[in-house]
Amino acid sequence: MSMNEQLVDELPTQPLATMGTILVAGATGYIGGRLVPELIERGYAVRVMVRVESPEHAERWTEAEVVVADALVPEQVVRALEGIDTVFYLIHSMLYGLDKFENADILAAKNFCSAGKEQGVRRIIYLGGLGDARTTLSTHLTSRLQVADEFMQSSVSTTILRAAIIIGSGSASYEMINHLVRRLPVFLVPTWAKTTCQPIGLRDVIKSLVGVLEIPETAGKTFDIGGSDSLTYEEMLKTHAEILGKKRLFLRSPFSNIGFYSYITSLLTPVPAAITWCLMESVTHDVVCQENEILEWVPFRRISCKEALVLAISREEQDAVRTRWSDSYPLDHELAIKLHELSAAPNYSSSYSLVSIKTDDALFRSVIKVGGREGWFHSNFLWRIRGAFDRLLLGVGVSRGRRSESTLRVNDVIDFWRVEAFERSRLLRLRAEMKVPGRAWLEFRIDPEGERTNRLTVTAYYQSRGRWGRIYWYIFLPFHHFIFYDLIKQIEKRS
Ligand SMILES: NC(=O)c1ccc[n+]([C@@H]2O[C@H](COP(=O)([O-])OP(=O)(O)OC[C@H]3O[C@@H](n4cnc5c(N)ncnc54)[C@H](OP(=O)(O)O)[C@@H]3O)[C@@H](O)[C@H]2O)c1
Repeated sequence: MSMNEQLVDELPTQPLATMGTILVAGATGYIGGRLVPELIERGYAVRVMVRVESPEHAERWTEAEVVVADALVPEQVVRALEGIDTVFYLIHSMLYGLDKFENADILAAKNFCSAGKEQGVRRIIYLGGLGDARTTLSTHLTSRLQVADEFMQSSVSTTILRAAIIIGSGSASYEMINHLVRRLPVFLVPTWAKTTCQPIGLRDVIKSLVGVLEIPETAGKTFDIGGSDSLTYEEMLKTHAEILGKKRLFLRSPFSNIGFYSYITSLLTPVPAAITWCLMESVTHDVVCQENEILEWVPFRRISCKEALVLAISREEQDAVRTRWSDSYPLDHELAIKLHELSAAPNYSSSYSLVSIKTDDALFRSVIKVGGREGWFHSNFLWRIRGAFDRLLLGVGVSRGRRSESTLRVNDVIDFWRVEAFERSRLLRLRAEMKVPGRAWLEFRIDPEGERTNRLTVTAYYQSRGRWGRIYWYIFLPFHHFIFYDLIKQIEKRS
């Protein structure tokens, strides 16, 4: 399967010649990032909505128009919807944490309804969560259903697709299952592991979204979408273990506290606690399609959970993961400030450099391999200890790894860092997302020095005004020389 394989080629529907510009709201997210190339390949004019301007967007979506708007700011949404025919609404604020995302999601949906009306949008297509409103649902699922209600009550025609777990390379659910099965020889199985779920393969989600777009008669309807089989969470884990050829022992557990299991899951997988909790909070209820009308409107063969898992594993093995759950990141997160946005230079920094005869390109190709499966080339145990400590404090830890082991783009995560700046053959700046009493950055820079040599420099920047921040910096400073100098030596050696 190639990196550019088009999923929608297998659809029974045809591109609509009469379709005006399509807005994808949530294009930087996991689903949005996969949908946009499919729409473009299908010949549609696409406008992607992003929250912040970045050169990376123009590079990533050369054939789409980019509009900057925050869904929580009504006038920005009105501007984003100007001249739009149909909206794919894929906005979600799970990383805000439970107390905040509910309100943010509903407010964002309201803004789209009123702006859609004002701008004469023909249809909104919303992908939400699958759940039975009659049972006590999790905060997460309730919020997804409330957003759906908001759209259904609005005067803009809406199509709603409701999905349970989405299995695809880079999806949070897949990474949770994958890491648990690879790491744990024994599973303690609480009673809720026997509830049933109908997961759906990512490719079938994308096909369903494009399918309903191309059938105007699906406007005003709600469809449950799922894969070809339903299974319990325990069966899902067993299926995955079977695919990987791993023998795993499943033991009944009388202990069923979901908070405990979600915390342990966050410690053992790359997915942070805020997300494992959102996804696991509703595991006590069966989440299966209540109806299958979508099969009549958009008929194609849905893949099974096992097929979806096999595809996800193979995409990962080919290092061909296009989007990942970690792509989306709330901009008002306290750590989202960029180095150049600080009002003054950070108050602490330490730099280490060496001169090399290697080309800037060779050095840079080696720099961008840091972290992930390869680790940090030297003193890996120290990075892991720092990561484990972060995890205990409910931070992201180092286990988030990377989307791809060989390629990087702005906003990708590398363990507990996020790529803030990327200038080929020149600069890679990472912003810390681990728990620190302040803000931290790590910057790799390559500068020409002399006629045939280059200087490779790594600089740690740290900004903190408090006493704890100062103590933190001076505790770690002695390790910097050891870790960072060896790091650039290894980078140079491997380049
Ligand atoms: N992924 C799954 O497993 C799954 C399963 C079932 C249903 N769904 C549904 O599918 C939809 C998309 O999910 P996803 O996994 O793609 O979500 P995601 O990766 O979390 O992406 C969310 C998107 O929303 C954007 N966003 C959040 N707040 C915003 C705001 N105020 N203004 C503008 N953009 C904002 C984010 O932009 P930034 O990049 O700027 O943060 C990001 O592009 C959701 O409705 C979800 O409920 C997903």
